[in-house]
Amino acid sequence: MPKRIAWLVLLAVLSAVCCCGPEKDAVVFSVGGAPAELAFWEELIRDFEKQSGIPVELLRQPTDTDQRRQGLVVALSASKSNPDVFLLDVAWLGLFTASEWLEPLGSDIDQSPFFARVLQLVDIHQGKLMALPVYLDGGLLYYRKDLFEQFDLPGPPRTWEQLLSYARTVQSKMRKTNPDFYGFVWQGAQYEGLICNFLEFAGSNGGFINQGDRICLNTLKNRRALAFMHDLIRTHGISPPSTYTEMKEEETRTYFQSGNALFERNWPYAWALHQGPESGVRGKIGVAPLPALKDGESVSTLGGWHIGISKFSDVKPRALKLVEFITSYETQKKLLLHLGWNPGRKDLYSDPEVLEVAPHLRQLRAVFQNARPRPILPYYTQISEIVQPRINGVLAGKYAPEEALAAAEQEIATLLERYDTK
Ligand code: GLC
Repeated sequence: MPKRIAWLVLLAVLSAVCCCGPEKDAVVFSVGGAPAELAFWEELIRDFEKQSGIPVELLRQPTDTDQRRQGLVVALSASKSNPDVFLLDVAWLGLFTASEWLEPLGSDIDQSPFFARVLQLVDIHQGKLMALPVYLDGGLLYYRKDLFEQFDLPGPPRTWEQLLSYARTVQSKMRKTNPDFYGFVWQGAQYEGLICNFLEFAGSNGGFINQGDRICLNTLKNRRALAFMHDLIRTHGISPPSTYTEMKEEETRTYFQSGNALFERNWPYAWALHQGPESGVRGKIGVAPLPALKDGESVSTLGGWHIGISKFSDVKPRALKLVEFITSYETQKKLLLHLGWNPGRKDLYSDPEVLEVAPHLRQLRAVFQNARPRPILPYYTQISEIVQPRINGVLAGKYAPEEALAAAEQEIATLLERYDTK
């Protein structure tokens, strides 16, 4: 072979080995989340590599669930073998199973340590186990215990009306020294988290997005709940205008954590960070179920992240080992102790060490057990994308609740006609 060609061949081989993505046989694992969460995943993965001898490449994704989904959909719809394993938002399971992007996990997996209701609702599709829960989310109310004492308030509010009244009282007093102080922060930006918040306000007022299999949005109860969300910002002024421009989970968490709010709606992960060494509210917070509207019941949206294997993976047996490791008792316990994630396994809810670090797990068990799922439909994410700008537009003062919900319902009807569903 002439010398020049030999060099070219060598270069091609070298660049294939060095530059083309993950090491051969490595399992590519896609995860997203807050910076502290990603750092902890790194640690866990290194432990797995030591134990199993299987190399893993961590594919880092953002925190926002919609952005994470888009990244995965691009790879999976092109049948790419990479990533092999990923965390899946409970909201996408309908889409991923209907698109046949998940490899069944097989019948050797012991399902008994997991919550049967969650497996049935979310992970089992046509009798096959397609994913396993890594952690369960349900919306919670965080509040400042120290300010409750200082202003002589009774326990956490049971109704949204009480929350409003406490928030107004404390906000007006705190504003004298802190102009940034707000009564209540929650997620109102245009993204999936807004739908979770809306469903909690609506559900606690007897409404929701579906009645059985039927999508039902423009109801009196939903309109009232949406008007209340609007009023929190624009009439009562207890939630900041940035609620609808930028508040997602992390923005809300950091706002509350810097000491600038009395109440916060967030998922359980915020607990561990609020109690962390750098938190301005460490040791000062309580956690409770979300309030209800007068005469209603407290409702939490069922959130959470599951783990699945890509149907296009070319290292499936190794990928399954990683799934087993992440859903094991030990790893789930670490995720709870370090990140405050509510385990997907029910056997951890009676572990004494877990209950000592997260006593609210015992107290709030019912919240997670009864959390209400979003519709698990192949086209749910499209429904959500229709509803998000409408609800956000109400918070921004662009539409009246009735106008927004009627328009969204109309667009959803058109979407469903396209899918030929009733
Ligand atoms: C949390 C929940 C997830 C939800 C998302 C919305 O990550 O676990 O289910 O879709 O928040 O922002």
